[in-house]
Amino acid sequence: MNKVSSIVIAVDGTAASGKGTLAKKLAAHFGFAHLDSGALYRLAAFSVLESGGDPSNEADALRGAQTMDFNLAGDPRIRTDIVGKAASYVAAIPAVRSALFDFQKNFLASPPGGGPGAVMDGRDIGTVICPSATAKLYVDARLETRARRRWAELKAMGIRRAEQDVVAELGARDEADKNRPISPLKQAPDADLLDTSDLGIDAAFAAALALVSPKVEGALKDRHRG
Ligand code: DC
Repeated sequence: MNKVSSIVIAVDGTAASGKGTLAKKLAAHFGFAHLDSGALYRLAAFSVLESGGDPSNEADALRGAQTMDFNLAGDPRIRTDIVGKAASYVAAIPAVRSALFDFQKNFLASPPGGGPGAVMDGRDIGTVICPSATAKLYVDARLETRARRRWAELKAMGIRRAEQDVVAELGARDEADKNRPISPLKQAPDADLLDTSDLGIDAAFAAALALVSPKVEGALKDRHRG
């Protein structure tokens, strides 16, 4: 296993909590590489669905993880609620998680672009992928607030859903992510909690920066000294 000596900001949290946006903005701020690990599970799920497989079937899900197309990481088709739900099934399968483990560790150990650090967002970054991360955030928000954000995102993609259905689905996804036996979503003991329920993007970013900056700046200084 690679030893992670680069500077790592782990951003975990619930669906539609704002963690992806915060992770991207933190990466841009520090000039670090960024990986949305949820996209990996979505890509694997998309591959399963495209080939007519069952995302909850171990063999189908593992084949999806082995055949996924990284070029589709920015494709809006992996952002639909159908792929999101399939991703939560695929992500609960241990063989899939171990198939994607090395990719994530390698990304953190040698951030693309050759910079000193990386920001990764997901569910288990600070607990399983990189327990030694320099800084850890656990981002959450009230279920209704997150559902409204997700509803608006889906609407912008041309997907019209009743708001109460989105509330029910996000609630079910939280339960699945938090209660699966492998790598469940939980706040690492040394992660800072950031509740974005009543914060706009700028205020949430300012709060995130205030929490991680001292640790990241300290680590950057240590690297310059050492
Ligand atoms: O963050 P997202 O909605 O794109 O994640 C899609 C699914 O992938 C979600 O149900 C949880 C799962 N996931 C995970 O299990 N571990 C991660 N590190 C990231 C996402």
